[in-house]
Amino acid sequence: MGIVLEGGKIITAVDSYCSDIRIEDEKIISIGNSLKRPGDEVICIKGCYVLPGGIDTHTHFDLESGSVVTADNFETGTKAALVGGTTTILDYATQNKGETLKEALKKQHKKSDGLCYCDYGFHMGITDWNDETCYEMKDMIEEGVTSFKLYMAYKNTLQVDDGVIFKALKRSKELKGIITFHCENGDIIEELINEAKSKGNNSPYYHPLTRPAQVEKEAIVRLLNIAEIVDVPVYIVHLSTREGLLSILDAKKRGIKVYAETCPQYLLLDDSFYGDKDSNSFEGAKYVMSPPLRKPYDNDALWKGVSSGEIMTIGTDHCSFNYKVQKEVGRDDFSKIPNGAPGVEHRIGLMYTYGVLKNRISMNEMVALTSTNAAKLFGLFPQKGTIAVGSDADIVIWNPDFSTSISAKNQMQNVDYTPYEGFEQYGRVLHAFLRGNKVIYNGKLIEYKPIGKYLYRKTW
Ligand code: URP
Ligand code: ZN
Ligand code: ZN
Repeated sequence: MGIVLEGGKIITAVDSYCSDIRIEDEKIISIGNSLKRPGDEVICIKGCYVLPGGIDTHTHFDLESGSVVTADNFETGTKAALVGGTTTILDYATQNKGETLKEALKKQHKKSDGLCYCDYGFHMGITDWNDETCYEMKDMIEEGVTSFKLYMAYKNTLQVDDGVIFKALKRSKELKGIITFHCENGDIIEELINEAKSKGNNSPYYHPLTRPAQVEKEAIVRLLNIAEIVDVPVYIVHLSTREGLLSILDAKKRGIKVYAETCPQYLLLDDSFYGDKDSNSFEGAKYVMSPPLRKPYDNDALWKGVSSGEIMTIGTDHCSFNYKVQKEVGRDDFSKIPNGAPGVEHRIGLMYTYGVLKNRISMNEMVALTSTNAAKLFGLFPQKGTIAVGSDADIVIWNPDFSTSISAKNQMQNVDYTPYEGFEQYGRVLHAFLRGNKVIYNGKLIEYKPIGKYLYRKTW
């Protein structure tokens, strides 16, 4: 017994056409006409788009940051993902100092296994490099963790130095993994923060001023020079600046293989959200994330990078802390505000509304950016990231005839604000299927049980 989706328009990264789809046993079994077999359920989806389930390349669920833990855990975060049309998330596990990668992975599984409503995989953040770590990267690959993250910022906690970057890239090249990079110069940030605080500048307004665009650019240029020496592709997460993008384009011209991700917040929000110098408002804390929000010209440049395909993926860096109580940890010191903001639920709606409907990207490009490219880069294609016979039946039925105003009041994310409060959203998920199981029906989450599976990903 299967399900037939009848009358929709299928959109993949490369084509758009009207056809029916038959799903059985978690897979797409056939695409065509007259697919119904005895006992099948037929769902009419006339007027809707049929998209491959979204893949969010970048989430942090159940993450500890100092004394607080993110507002979203794997249960609430993956429910929110589904509501927004994302059927797979790639979350960041992180090695604490003194910990092995295996221990970090075990902890991440303990936090997530049995709780996820969508499928999930992990990148592994390496923060404490030694011979064992180098050896263990192979174990990670065998455990399906084929991508890693190195932080060039967060001095004394997560940051690694250039020697570690060099050694980890060499190892990753041998293993055919890929390393993702947080590109900001943590040493300079530390100095700028100390300078600001010594002058009594403690409000969220100073967060972006202590992380100027040049610290992103500098880290990107340095990274790409190291990648050139090692001759290995790298992936840059949450790209936020025009300068950073230009450096990536220069490096590409020199033959360096670099893939870039940006996030809706760097396309749609700017540093005016941090308020003004003399205001006592703490509202800006909602937007304290790293890298910070930038200038409107950065938004414009990143949109161009997205439209031209130079930026390949849209992740969210969903890392939610409640404005009340959690963000307040840094009320008297912006550097203590837990970094991060929510977004997993609104990623596709925002890209559809402000990308497709504003003629910045086509529907096919939206699919590439929010699903297909991620599947290809992170070892999931063609199981995920496309609508094809044999692929997992991760399918989103997108109803374009719908509009709403985004608000924390009606979100699934378990956090007391959204950075997109009041933003118009057109279109929404009407139905969604995760490996053939109905997970959203008529816009409502089916909270039957957490059927999300851990994904063992392939290497390059
Ligand atoms: O502010 C952010 N982005 N928090 C999450 C950690 C990271 O750097 O991705
Ligand atoms: Zn980061
Ligand atoms: Zn992140």
